[in-house]
Amino acid sequence: MTERLEPARFSSGIPGADYVIVVGLELEKELITAVQGTGIGRRVAVISDDVVGKKWGESVVSSLSEAGIAAELFTFPHGEKNKHQATVSALQDELLKKRYGRDTLILALGGGVVGDVAGYVAATFLRGVPYIQIPTTLLAMVDSSIGGKVGVDTQYGKNTVGAFWQPSAVIADLKFLKGLPQKEIVSGLLEAIKSFFTSDKDALRAVDTLALEDPLSSPEALQDIVVRSIKFKAGVVARDEREENERMVLNFGHTVGHAVELLSGFEMPHGFAVGYGMLVETKIAEDLGVLASADRALVCSYLERLGITPAGLKDFKVDDVLEAMKGDKKARGGAIYCVLLRSIGAVSTDGGNYAHQVEEGVVRKAYQSITQ
Ligand SMILES: NC(=O)c1ccc[n+]([C@@H]2O[C@H](COP(=O)([O-])OP(=O)(O)OC[C@H]3O[C@@H](n4cnc5c(N)ncnc54)[C@H](O)[C@@H]3O)[C@@H](O)[C@H]2O)c1
Repeated sequence: MTERLEPARFSSGIPGADYVIVVGLELEKELITAVQGTGIGRRVAVISDDVVGKKWGESVVSSLSEAGIAAELFTFPHGEKNKHQATVSALQDELLKKRYGRDTLILALGGGVVGDVAGYVAATFLRGVPYIQIPTTLLAMVDSSIGGKVGVDTQYGKNTVGAFWQPSAVIADLKFLKGLPQKEIVSGLLEAIKSFFTSDKDALRAVDTLALEDPLSSPEALQDIVVRSIKFKAGVVARDEREENERMVLNFGHTVGHAVELLSGFEMPHGFAVGYGMLVETKIAEDLGVLASADRALVCSYLERLGITPAGLKDFKVDDVLEAMKGDKKARGGAIYCVLLRSIGAVSTDGGNYAHQVEEGVVRKAYQSITQ
């Protein structure tokens, strides 16, 4: 691992929330600067899950304390199953019990689950306190730490309760990826290529050069993937924070993806679910004559390299997938909406709309032709 990777520093460009984003290696100083930037004398609560807290919590707390910033670690059990209201309440009760006040600063140290939970704690604690995202999975770096969507799952669906609450900074230190299980690296890469397929064909070159089995051995490619993904997402959020139209582009692969994720009982990593979603949704686009077969074949070749093939869908029956899709929050009045790829690096925006209503029969046919 090289220690001399020049950090990439840029701002989110999001109106009213133009926070700093840093991507690099060994970013302790950048984190301290970001903490100090939120105001002197804040009480810092580092919120993490048990896995990340054990692995990285102490080193983050001690690097802050070496800089004279007192910080305390709070953890909750890891996994999507714990991304719910009870976790948020327990964390907030603990903060209140320890008399944390409106001077609280929350650091969300972890993957997307921690970012969503800790961000929602921040959005609602004493009517809102600042927080900094410190993503520790590739998926959180390329996607979930950016954009200010925070919240939890309920028995009625994924991310069904939440808020828009932008962080004060995002510090993406690639060192946290050291030892991250391979499936989590692949999960993050699948979210990254989702963005590249919709907007940035050139970025696929960085994916081609990444050493999949040890991404930190190709730090420049890794940094390039994270920076390009973040810039794309921040740009979209800057133009459409509340997901009135363009932000829906980020949901490419998610209509089917969320259904599969739900049917797997959230056992399937989020990025893999999005990967299967892209497999089906590009078939829908091809069947509708929106996407050329050669472009779909290119998408499928990237997916296959990352282990996403039709065989992985065999346990999910089309009727169950359709039912789950209709219950998703992207569905409106039971109708199914998908983002349709038009070519590699561009989506269809016929009529100016990023999400297209797709007939159930079209989805059924595409799904069946892939899985039979
Ligand atoms: N808010 C958004 O805009 C947005 C966007 C995309 C996804 N998400 C959400 O993100 C979540 C998925 O995020 P995720 O894939 O990061 O999952 P995750 O947070 O559950 O992390 C995956 C696993 O890796 C472990 N882990 C995290 N960092 C580690 C590290 N550095 N070393 C070792 N283990 C580590 C975690 O403990 C967990 O077991 C989903 O809940 C999804 O809905 C949110």
